[in-house]
Amino acid sequence: MPTTRQTEPRLRLAHTSDLTPRERQAIRGLLDVAYDGEFTDADWGHALGGTHAIVLDGRAVVAHGSVVARQFHYEGRALKTGYVEALATRADRRRRGYGSRVMAELERIIRSTYDLGALGAADEAARMYLSRGWRAWGGPLHALTPSGVVPTPEERGCVYTFPPELTLDRSKPLCCDWRAGDVW
Ligand SMILES: CC(C)(COP(=O)(O)OP(=O)(O)OC[C@H]1O[C@@H](n2cnc3c(N)ncnc32)[C@H](O)[C@@H]1OP(=O)(O)O)[C@@H](O)C(=O)NCCC(=O)NCCS
Repeated sequence: MPTTRQTEPRLRLAHTSDLTPRERQAIRGLLDVAYDGEFTDADWGHALGGTHAIVLDGRAVVAHGSVVARQFHYEGRALKTGYVEALATRADRRRRGYGSRVMAELERIIRSTYDLGALGAADEAARMYLSRGWRAWGGPLHALTPSGVVPTPEERGCVYTFPPELTLDRSKPLCCDWRAGDVW
């Protein structure tokens, strides 16, 4: 009797503009469930416009993350920043390395394209980020809003940066650009 060969889930990289409508819908569906219904339209907007790394099992999206371009300010310098958004693995597929596979691709893009990588870390994922070399920004955080630079102290300690060998002083202030929804 012929045996059915199980194929390994594959990684696909795509700019937002190259995602199929079906993939876009599947990614949003994954995020809605993975974030327990707290993934907002603003969060979705933040995840679009850059490069998506998705793990596909057949046509099903089982893990996702994206990196989008932002501009941060540090010590009078503008830093081209690759911001990681919307990392999630389907609940029944966690702890198999898919989240790490997605992160490895996004980190490669950050290293090759940006001055700095950054993300807002959920408690659940902090250990994974730490083990991959991401480090919490210890200094004060600000946002450059339409009415000027505003402190965002509630985010302190939750913003992680990459790569580990970054030559920036993580105890100094870091300022992000403005956007709708959560700025970090
Ligand atoms: C955070 C999240 C994306 C991780 O996804 P994942 O696919 O489970 O990630 P990985 O499998 O690569 O790694 C997770 C852990 O499993 C471990 N692991 C990886 N492969 C494994 C395997 N084959 N067997 C056992 N453990 C394994 C990893 O070492 C890692 O351990 P750690 O928690 O000590 O760091 C997932 O838990 C999730 O979607 N959470 C909800 C959404 C969320 O919080 N997103 C992050 C927002 S910042």
